[in-house]
Amino acid sequence: MAVTFDLSGKSAIVTGGGRGIGRAIALGLAGAGASVAVCGRTQKELDGVADEIRKLGGKALPVVADLTVNDQLENLVNAAIKEFERIDILVNNAARSFLRSLLDLREDGWDKVFNTNVKAVWLLSRAVARRMIEQKSGKIINITTVGAEKAEVGMAAYGCSKAALKMLTRCMAREWASYGINVNAVGPGLTRTDFSKPIWSNPDIARHVAAMIPKGRIAEPEEIVSSVLFLASDAADYITGHTIYVDGGTLTT
Ligand SMILES: NC(=O)c1ccc[n+]([C@@H]2O[C@H](COP(=O)([O-])OP(=O)(O)OC[C@H]3O[C@@H](n4cnc5c(N)ncnc54)[C@H](OP(=O)(O)O)[C@@H]3O)[C@@H](O)[C@H]2O)c1
Repeated sequence: MAVTFDLSGKSAIVTGGGRGIGRAIALGLAGAGASVAVCGRTQKELDGVADEIRKLGGKALPVVADLTVNDQLENLVNAAIKEFERIDILVNNAARSFLRSLLDLREDGWDKVFNTNVKAVWLLSRAVARRMIEQKSGKIINITTVGAEKAEVGMAAYGCSKAALKMLTRCMAREWASYGINVNAVGPGLTRTDFSKPIWSNPDIARHVAAMIPKGRIAEPEEIVSSVLFLASDAADYITGHTIYVDGGTLTT
């Protein structure tokens, strides 16, 4: 059997595709031949990524959408279907976090994190899965984190939301396997993006953190892409319900 990560003729949605890891994933999918819809709340960033994809010779669709607003979420799915006729790959990458101790975290902060990182993923995946069921195939990839496994001070809402996302990945995998839909997750360790800038932009903190990672450094966004391409490809047709950690060995400590 020939193993290939070729995604020619496939179309994808990448949430939070305007910057950071989502941008790298969108460019990676396009590089493998997929047409890509990128969504987020910042038009300028989405237009920038769409331009980069078009310069690579690919097809791109920037869609401004706040995924915590149902109408905007539905509009994203409809826009992608209208442009590409089908959705083969959904990458649930968008997320938010607050650095706050459990004693100081406010109730609305907890809700905002869970609404974005868990509820919106379920609602978008459900909307897309209904199309994938008609197609009898599809790949859904959720971006989690090592923080789903390790308790970090000040990151409780985020860590709990990503642990829930890991279980949501398994539940969707179990319920939708018979429709030809595979659902897996990729869990990065600390990666150089705006999200983690307070850590890597401070030399003292950055040195301390790097020393705790067996590989001795944090990841670059591009290093998260290959596992997503693998899970999106036909090569992963018999893999569902799992999480691949891309963490430089962090979870061995
Ligand atoms: N960086 C790390 O160290 C690290 C480590 C482990 C896991 N991760 C995970 O990797 C993923 C990407 O993180 P990143 O570091 O690339 O973060 P980032 O640079 O902050 O990007 C987050 C993306 O999510 C979008 N987003 C947030 N809320 C949204 C909403 N309500 N509706 C639509 N889009 C929304 C943002 O776009 P707008 O603001 O324009 O909406 C942005 O494009 C996340 O799932 C994160 O948990 C990151």
